[in-house]
Amino acid sequence: MKTITIGGVTETIHERSDYPLAGLKERFAKETIAVLGYGPQGRGQGLNLRDQGFNVIVGLRKGPSYDHALKDGWKEGVNLFSMDEALEKGTIILFLLSDAGQIGYWPTLKAKLKKGDALVFSHGFGVVFNDQTGIVPPKDVDVVLCAPKGSGLTVRNHFLEGRGINASVAVFQDATGHAADRVRALGIAIGSGHLFETTFKNEVVSDLTGERCVLMGMLQGAFLAQYEVLRENGHPPTEAYNETIEEALQSLYPLVAENGMDWMYANCSTTAQRGALDWAPRFKAAIKPVIAQCYADVKAGKEAAISIEANSKSDYRVGLEKELAAIASQEMWEAGRILREFRPERAK
Ligand SMILES: NC(=O)c1ccc[n+]([C@@H]2O[C@H](COP(=O)([O-])OP(=O)(O)OC[C@H]3O[C@@H](n4cnc5c(N)ncnc54)[C@H](OP(=O)(O)O)[C@@H]3O)[C@@H](O)[C@H]2O)c1
Repeated sequence: MKTITIGGVTETIHERSDYPLAGLKERFAKETIAVLGYGPQGRGQGLNLRDQGFNVIVGLRKGPSYDHALKDGWKEGVNLFSMDEALEKGTIILFLLSDAGQIGYWPTLKAKLKKGDALVFSHGFGVVFNDQTGIVPPKDVDVVLCAPKGSGLTVRNHFLEGRGINASVAVFQDATGHAADRVRALGIAIGSGHLFETTFKNEVVSDLTGERCVLMGMLQGAFLAQYEVLRENGHPPTEAYNETIEEALQSLYPLVAENGMDWMYANCSTTAQRGALDWAPRFKAAIKPVIAQCYADVKAGKEAAISIEANSKSDYRVGLEKELAAIASQEMWEAGRILREFRPERAK
């Protein structure tokens, strides 16, 4: 455990070394961890728990997730059950259905929770926007959050590589008096490298803002804007793609990840440095109001309403597939598919 101070704010970071595996096994010896849902998070967290020998079971409806779990070696009646059965056996319930799916299953789950159970979310969405989701947990269970800061695929891949993604943890309700320690121990057990503390509200607002802005929405918008400007000015696709995306993802972003943008600025050509120093404030001024608007909409529950409305429709995949196909058919990503094949590790 380390205490750090940044910008006058002091925070606590929990590390793997605080929760050695042997101690975790003892800690969870009498618990059954039931993973409901087998999307990227359910699969990543479930397999990481299973590989380390925890008492973990998976609860799923029949369908694609169930088939995937069978392929991954989960065994019917041994550690793979219906959601209702898994709930009856579990004492720690990892509620990892899609956020929209959680709404429909909530009444069943609520009725089956037992006194002293831990109800674990990987996103604050359901609880924070309970005026829209109806997810109001009973008072006699721990309600905690363990939210890996990345895709479930990364949760799994980092674990297999011996690393660990970071995750945020929070306690919404402490019925047992041990909820904080329970969720920290669980956070390390699912394969996290380190944990930082948050609240349900802060997690959901920062997470929804992040994916709408810098992580995905803004990134796609910014890539496309630059690609289009280059193409409209006569640059061929290869040049437009390489100058916009390939150089960013293959060269600059990994260096920024490793050393920070301050280092990147200090270690590029003086020409690039001058231009980036001059243009960064202009981008910040243009983009900050959009991010502030997005944050306000998220906080007011507007983005939650949009998401619930869109993802609760039984045929939501049909419209979604059309929108995804539209991105896939953009020339920029067509160029990406062709040009990625020239990367040395892929080229024959
Ligand atoms: N993906 C991320 O990057 C990420 C990161 C951090 C936290 N989280 C959070 O983790 C949770 C799970 O997300 P995810 O990305 O792993 O999965 P997801 O793709 O959002 O959800 C997929 C799972 O939900 C099940 N499901 C959906 N509707 C259902 C219903 N009505 N009844 C039963 N099962 C239903 C699906 O089963 P079927 O296959 O049978 O449809 C599948 O197993 C969410 O709260 C999410 O916000 C996600």
